Amino acid sequence: MSDTPQITEQAVAEAVDAALAAISAAGDSTALRSARTEHTAEHSPLARLNGAIRDLPGSEKAAAGKLVGQARARVNQALAAQESVVLAAEEQQRLAAEAVDVTAVPSRRRTGARHPLSLLQEDIADVFTGMGWEIGEGPELEHEWFNFDSLNFDEDHPARAMQDTFFVEPVERHLVLRTHTSPVQIRSLLSRPLPLYVVAPGRVYRTDELDATHTPVFQQVEGIAIDKGLTMAHLRGTLEHLAHAMFGEGAQIRLRPNFFPFTEPSAEMDVWQPNAKGGARWVEWGGCGMVNRNVLRAAGIDPEEYQGFAFGMGIERTLQFRNDMNDMRDMVEGDVRFSQQFGMVV
Ligand code: DAH
Repeated sequence: MSDTPQITEQAVAEAVDAALAAISAAGDSTALRSARTEHTAEHSPLARLNGAIRDLPGSEKAAAGKLVGQARARVNQALAAQESVVLAAEEQQRLAAEAVDVTAVPSRRRTGARHPLSLLQEDIADVFTGMGWEIGEGPELEHEWFNFDSLNFDEDHPARAMQDTFFVEPVERHLVLRTHTSPVQIRSLLSRPLPLYVVAPGRVYRTDELDATHTPVFQQVEGIAIDKGLTMAHLRGTLEHLAHAMFGEGAQIRLRPNFFPFTEPSAEMDVWQPNAKGGARWVEWGGCGMVNRNVLRAAGIDPEEYQGFAFGMGIERTLQFRNDMNDMRDMVEGDVRFSQQFGMVV
């Protein structure tokens, strides 16, 4: 090559200085890669000085080789050192970019709240399990026999009429959406040993339009106790206990004679609410009575041996009285802001 460089200490030192300056100025791996190419690859000053050794007279080769070799070693060392600095810095940057701040306040969906009717249903069940009662269940799609016949409803009882009951097709199958939780009385009598104390909260259906005081789907809680020697006094005591648990110790109940086919005698139950908005008053809460002998017989129980009482009340009504609510529609709309007012119990 015509422009073969002269191997002098100065030429080598200049090449080394230029290489070291470029290497220490390389702040990332791309810059370092070009510094490596520019100062150590084939046409770099150091590579050309190294190539020039070949053309020297034999006596000078050893010294020149040593000079250039040491220079290249220094540059390679500097490259390696800078490389580890640059890679470590880049690794740090990557980690910082990917870091997750576990203490940061996340923007997540707001916590929901359980519906007050579900909570109340559980509260009521707790009052009874606390007295040793069991929880009973029955299907919402119920056989007409359980919903009416076994409960001593006449063939032509008005509650069976199309305007009250959701009959399910095909009608020959005699299935209805249960209109009350009372069929669970019969299901309990048929499936449990005596004596029995069963409380059964659940959903029921009637063909009512939705308005401030009606909804076509609502909840009731049914109770039935069958034992030897039960009287209206036991019924009253049990209902009083529930009223106190629901409305406070000041609450009282009163029973008014009424008619239900499945109880005899039967009563409508009112609850006295000393703290009701707009003044203390009686409000109608549910129905109750002594289990009709025909109902006991339908379940194969000898009414001479066992007696019992039963009751049923609306859970929506209970919530309305307890929390001074006027409009049932608030309970069915499913607006979480409504539920949240009852606490964030989950
Ligand atoms: N099942 C009745 C209704 O839905 C309520 C009821 C009345 C239940 C008297 C009873 C009872 O257990 O003894 O209107």
